[in-house]
This record gives sequence, C-alpha cells and structure tokens, in this order.
Amino acid sequence: MDTATSPRRLCRLDDMPDGEAMALDVSLPEGEESVILLRQGARVNAWLNICPHAGRRLDWAPGKFLISKGMLVCAAHGACFNVDNGECIGGPCKGESLRTVPVQVEQGDVLLDV
Ligand code: FES
Repeated sequence: MDTATSPRRLCRLDDMPDGEAMALDVSLPEGEESVILLRQGARVNAWLNICPHAGRRLDWAPGKFLISKGMLVCAAHGACFNVDNGECIGGPCKGESLRTVPVQVEQGDVLLDV
C-alpha cells in the first residue's frame, strides 16, 4: 500500500460545530502546521492557520475563530476571508488568499488528502 497517497483521518465531521472553525496541528509534507477546519453542512474547507498579511495565526485564542457575515476574520488586524474559498475580501491583504489544505469528507470522516 502506498501510504504517501492515502488520505489521513483528521476528525469526525459530527465533532465539528456546523458553521464554525477549529484548529488542528497537522503533520504536512512541509512539517507540522496549524490548520483551520471550517465546516459548512457536509462540506469542510481547510487552510493553513497563517494570515497572508503578516503571517500571524487567525485565531483570537487557540482554536477560537471569529466568523461574521460569511467571513472568517483574522484576529490580528481584521482581514476578512471568504469562508467558501479563503480569499481575502477586506482588510490589509485584500486579493490574497489563505493557503488551501486539501481535505475530503468520506463516510463522516474528515480526511487529509495530501
Ligand atoms: S496578520 Fe492577519 S490581518 Fe494582519
């Protein structure tokens, strides 16, 4: 079996509050990183927890994120990101995007797909 291409289980979808984000420390090919997981119904988007503005984490306390009016808001300087695609749509890094971490949901498991 080729483990390099096997998806890895991060958590259960049911353990994620719908419409909210959480952070997990995940071992990625480039090293261990904090990853934002944001659930919307049966779908999960994931990004590195690194703001493109100044490289800070987006959470205001570990794993606690501000989501307002369909936007994920960086706690450092208020950059606002579209929760569907991670694009910065307001604030100091407008036009830039969070870095996507590929995940998929399969049989209720959230799987890392790298
Ligand atoms: S580091 Fe996120 S807005 Fe400045």
